[in-house]
Amino acid sequence: MTKRIVVLISGSGSNLQAIMDAIDTGQINGRIEAVLSNKAEAFGLQRAQNANIPAITLKHTDFEDRLSFDQAMIKEIDQYQPDLIVLAGFMRILTPDFVRHYQGRMLNIHPSLLPKYKGLHTHKRAIEAGDKEHGCTVHFVTEELDGGPLAVQGKVSVTMDDNEESLQQKVHAIEHVIYPLAVELYCANKLIWTQSGILMDGNTLPSQGYQVAPLD
Ligand code: GAR
Repeated sequence: MTKRIVVLISGSGSNLQAIMDAIDTGQINGRIEAVLSNKAEAFGLQRAQNANIPAITLKHTDFEDRLSFDQAMIKEIDQYQPDLIVLAGFMRILTPDFVRHYQGRMLNIHPSLLPKYKGLHTHKRAIEAGDKEHGCTVHFVTEELDGGPLAVQGKVSVTMDDNEESLQQKVHAIEHVIYPLAVELYCANKLIWTQSGILMDGNTLPSQGYQVAPLD
């Protein structure tokens, strides 16, 4: 059965685009039912419109607090009866109620090799620490910020001449591989969240998730 997907964004939506492209080529057996942004100017909304996907803006600034914003999002999202929620550069901290509502069916991509560098400015922090490798992680979302069980991880090497921007570009390139892959596996019922760990093809994944071969 084709899975129903709702994607949450706040910005450019290049990961959304990578997932839309992977649906178009048949890699992902899924359908994006709606794209929701907390920012009206997010370019990802344009990408959705271009593909005739409902593009919804729900501005967090229109709500009194986090809880009422999240409740409004749930109301909006659940109209589409999603099997999967994809956070693709959605830059809002979610309330425990929201996270619990979608437990086991919400993925996020984070621009670091989790559990390293939770939070912001991950590329800068990797450079400042002198790391030789960096990357990105797709994980299931739990109440702990950037702390849910890891699904897929992609690495890039950090070279002497890298700066924050060049590293961000390298990471973006591998994000566009691992996020469609994670969504593909989820939609094929090959990537499954359980209380005792993440299953891939019936086997429990190690804590660092499934490792994708580096592009470089
Ligand atoms: C991506 O690099 C993603 O890893 C990051 O936002 C970017 C969104 O880019 N997410 C986070 O930092 C979440 N904490 P995109 O809008 O082009 O997909």
